[in-house]
Amino acid sequence: MKIGVLISGRGSNLQSLINAQLVGQLSAEIAAVISNVPEAGGLERASKVGIASTVVNHRQFDKRDDFDEALNKALLLAGVDFVCLAGFMRILGDDFVNNWKDRVINIHPSLLPAFKGLNTHERALEAGVRFTGCTIHFVRSALDEGPIILQAVLPILPDDTPQSLAARVLQLEHKTYPTAVRMIAEGRVQIDGKCVKIKDGSFTSDPMIIPTD
Ligand code: GRF
Repeated sequence: MKIGVLISGRGSNLQSLINAQLVGQLSAEIAAVISNVPEAGGLERASKVGIASTVVNHRQFDKRDDFDEALNKALLLAGVDFVCLAGFMRILGDDFVNNWKDRVINIHPSLLPAFKGLNTHERALEAGVRFTGCTIHFVRSALDEGPIILQAVLPILPDDTPQSLAARVLQLEHKTYPTAVRMIAEGRVQIDGKCVKIKDGSFTSDPMIIPTD
């Protein structure tokens, strides 16, 4: 599986995928990193390990469809057959999503379907939920929707702030994203309507991470 990783910023999740690839734990190859933001820190992470990176700047396109088409071309040019969104801050249009149906996944810093969109940690704290975490899901046209592949959970502590929560959730993201990619690359993830079935998953009795790789 040849992956294209789409980013907009610091790229710590991209780094977790790179790290997994470097130690042979990804079962896939990151063939391209594409950012819509020229200054994105993740671009340097890619170039440090010799992964081709490109900027497709959304500001240079009048229409979203044209931006999406430029992304599509860059991905195809790099021989990509699967796309990982990793902090990519643009909404992809219907055509792109349909062209790449079941071949685009996203990581989101909440337990979907709770807290779609931005400021997830502030909103989790405001809502007084006791647990939060991250979700890896297939991308559909609606924001932060689509069959859920993996979720990882952590408790919210009495003194948590949006910042402390963001830091702990991010650590969880870095473990979960490479695991999800690996499961897909190994052909163990099957979409079944709105849900995902995992083949040969070893399920743990630890309620915080279900299932494990
Ligand atoms: C992560 O919290 C991810 O879940 C969200 O955007 C953030 C990106 O962080 N979609 P990074 O650029 O991977 O460090």
